[in-house]
Amino acid sequence: MFVTRKAEFSASHVCRVPSLSDQENQQLYGEGANPNGHGHNYLLEVTVEGDPDPATGMVINLQALKEILLREVVEPMDHRFLNYEVEPFHKVVPTPENIAGEIWRRLENNLQGLPARLARVRLYETPDHHVDIVRGDLSL
Ligand code: NI
Repeated sequence: MFVTRKAEFSASHVCRVPSLSDQENQQLYGEGANPNGHGHNYLLEVTVEGDPDPATGMVINLQALKEILLREVVEPMDHRFLNYEVEPFHKVVPTPENIAGEIWRRLENNLQGLPARLARVRLYETPDHHVDIVRGDLSL
């Protein structure tokens, strides 16, 4: 059974590859390469999977999941300039793909010991655009 919890955070970023020229970055990322940065209201959906505990009827204690999301994602990333204030984005381009990957790693490390396991991280950068990471994706 799958259980999903949402969280939101607002953050700024610049998408550019340091080894490329300004023009090449502009071609790759468009306005996203502007060094002044720009913000997004990110919407995160975290899905865990497991069997409901026979006694409690719950797959996971949602309060515990909420606290992990706050501590590991929302508090460190909300109202931050990701490239300068959040590891590893001083050297990893903070595309939604890479932000979702970092969120996956942070949550995976903190869900150990809980009965449910991480199944999917979905990150909306805009209402029209999201990325998904599911268990088994390469390089996680
Ligand atoms: Ni952007």
